[in-house]
Amino acid sequence: MKIAVLPGDGIGPEVTRESLKVLDALSLPQLTLFEGDVGGIAYKRHGHPLPSETLDMARAADAVLFGAVGDPECDSLPRQHRPEQAILGLRSELGLFANLRPAAGFPGLEDLSPLKPELARGIDLLVVRELNGDVYFGEKGERESAGGREGWDAMSYNEAEVERIAHTAFRAARKRRKKLTSVDKANVLETSRVWREVVVQIADQYPDVELDHMYVDNAAMQLVRSPGQFDVILTGNLFGDILSDQASACVGSIGLLASASLGERQTDLGTFGLYEPIHGSAPDIAGQGKANPVAAILSLAMLLRHSLGRETEAGQIERAVANTLTGDIRGADLGGTATTQEIGDAVIGNLKSIA
Ligand code: NAD
Ligand code: IPM
Ligand code: MN
Repeated sequence: MKIAVLPGDGIGPEVTRESLKVLDALSLPQLTLFEGDVGGIAYKRHGHPLPSETLDMARAADAVLFGAVGDPECDSLPRQHRPEQAILGLRSELGLFANLRPAAGFPGLEDLSPLKPELARGIDLLVVRELNGDVYFGEKGERESAGGREGWDAMSYNEAEVERIAHTAFRAARKRRKKLTSVDKANVLETSRVWREVVVQIADQYPDVELDHMYVDNAAMQLVRSPGQFDVILTGNLFGDILSDQASACVGSIGLLASASLGERQTDLGTFGLYEPIHGSAPDIAGQGKANPVAAILSLAMLLRHSLGRETEAGQIERAVANTLTGDIRGADLGGTATTQEIGDAVIGNLKSIA
């Protein structure tokens, strides 16, 4: 099995290093790693944030382990050269339309959350975010208007796009608590009206799953007021981006949430996918050993589960992470003093006593 490792920018390489240490500690047979440049570093070295060699490497692999992209030095580049285009390009070129972002509290660690313990205790949700459409991939541009230059971005979803992500979400709900909340803005947006109509149609095929709908503004509020009401949240690219960062803060930190981006391609042992923490390159803390590697390490666990058929090892990593946090090894994001490396080492220590 081949894994393409794309560490990227800022804290991306720092947290990816810890995931690779964990992978190494598992001593899995027949695994080959390839490393490629992506994001700002790739732009600086090769003139493009997603060089064709990197894209080819990702395509040839069974899974992609991704760090983060984003570099303040690249913020004024034209859009096609910005580091962020690399992750958007990978998601679309590789057909990764389903982004799974689980957010669950750690039992006994309700103090990590800024919410009241009784609210934090109930958090166990999965954001299913559509990843290949929406305002992210619509036409965009700049034009003259009566009010001067006008930037514009077209938002759209077609039926086929909504259908396939709705199936992903209903299937996920079936394996969980069988509750699906579709989040949209159907009171204002045509995009959301089609979205909601399609989700309602697909629901007929999943009579065992309870479906409800929520406007995104209310969903943001409910996520803080009573996060335990959510099981699976199905939503579009933009709303899913925002709500998943918010869900991470409800659990405790953005440094804790992992993600899997999946499409239809199957590997010998599972589904081809790209795995990354939900956070970005965090330039404000890069190079200081302050990044929490847990989100990256949990992304590796998702990779092992979904792409390599290694459920046992995935579960072991997740338990090792929980034990590490319970053992009071926490980074600055959670009010602790442990460095990136110390957290990675502690996870490996816990892994060895489990495996
Ligand atoms: P960010 O997620 O990088 O950081 C937001 C805040 O959370 C910062 O204060 C940061 O220090 C903190 N944080 C993030 N990850 C952390 C971790 N693992 N441990 C401890 N603290 C952590 O978001 P931002 O600041 O809005 O964006 C920075 C850059 O990253 C931008 O260029 C943005 O476009 C990019 N970005 C990339 C991705 C990605 O690669 N998928 C995701 C989000 C943002
Ligand atoms: C994420 C990021 C990306 C997104 C950016 C960097 C394009 O915020 O992975 O959550 O908006 O999807
Ligand atoms: Mn985001």
